[in-house]
Amino acid sequence: MLGSTRHSEPTTIAHVAITRAVSRALEHCELTHLARRPIDLGLARHQHVAYEQALREAGCEVRQLAEQPWHPDSVFVEDTIVALDEGAVVTRPGAPSRRGEVASMAAALEGLRTLLRIQPPGTLDGGDVLRLDRVLYVGASARSNAEGIAQLGRLLAPFGYRVEAVPLRDCLHLKTAVTQVAADRLLLNPAWVDADRFAGWESVPIDPAEPHAANALRVGGAVIYPVSCPRTAAALRKLGIDVRSVDMSETEKAEGGVTCCSVILEV
Ligand code: GLY
Repeated sequence: MLGSTRHSEPTTIAHVAITRAVSRALEHCELTHLARRPIDLGLARHQHVAYEQALREAGCEVRQLAEQPWHPDSVFVEDTIVALDEGAVVTRPGAPSRRGEVASMAAALEGLRTLLRIQPPGTLDGGDVLRLDRVLYVGASARSNAEGIAQLGRLLAPFGYRVEAVPLRDCLHLKTAVTQVAADRLLLNPAWVDADRFAGWESVPIDPAEPHAANALRVGGAVIYPVSCPRTAAALRKLGIDVRSVDMSETEKAEGGVTCCSVILEV
């Protein structure tokens, strides 16, 4: 049931959301499972402003990092860091074209979190990391290799976190396939990840007509969610979930979603 105390949470949390201005090179982004389509950069920037406003309305202070014109995918800041209360792990993205994105995110986190780092030959994308209480589920994807996942486990074990690798099918990142939408519920595409990997969690299946519908951003009691998945949004609302719609059409063409475009810190 919603509101269950099985996964207890504080009722008032202040958040900082770190975002980055959309790169003028976005149309040259990495694509793994999607065909390339023209991207309207002006519209992408307009939509990103609206996304940042949704974050503010959900209780975040938004801190926008400067554009990286030479890094097409740099708006997808989630992939560069795994931020926890106890520290932050600077990733080593699986796509070599994205490795130059991490330094400025690490600089932004200086003073906010103790920084740890994934080292070569490990690779890890933050989009593969789903934290549920004290367990970090990590997609064994084309971006996050076994060495990166093992390093993450070793770095976080002293803080009492357990890391579990999760097999994926046909999608870029674990959070393309599953995200948390309520204190005790996950939203999941069963074609891409098996629900039984998440023991103790109820899962809401996406509407089969909306394969990309499992990527939702839960923050401050609200769920920021793409307008491109109206059937699944309606199902979430029926469950009493506070769905806040945002149009992400242009970053979706770049194989990004609502979680990818921010890093949320509890402060
Ligand atoms: N275009 C998003 C990514 O491949 O990282």
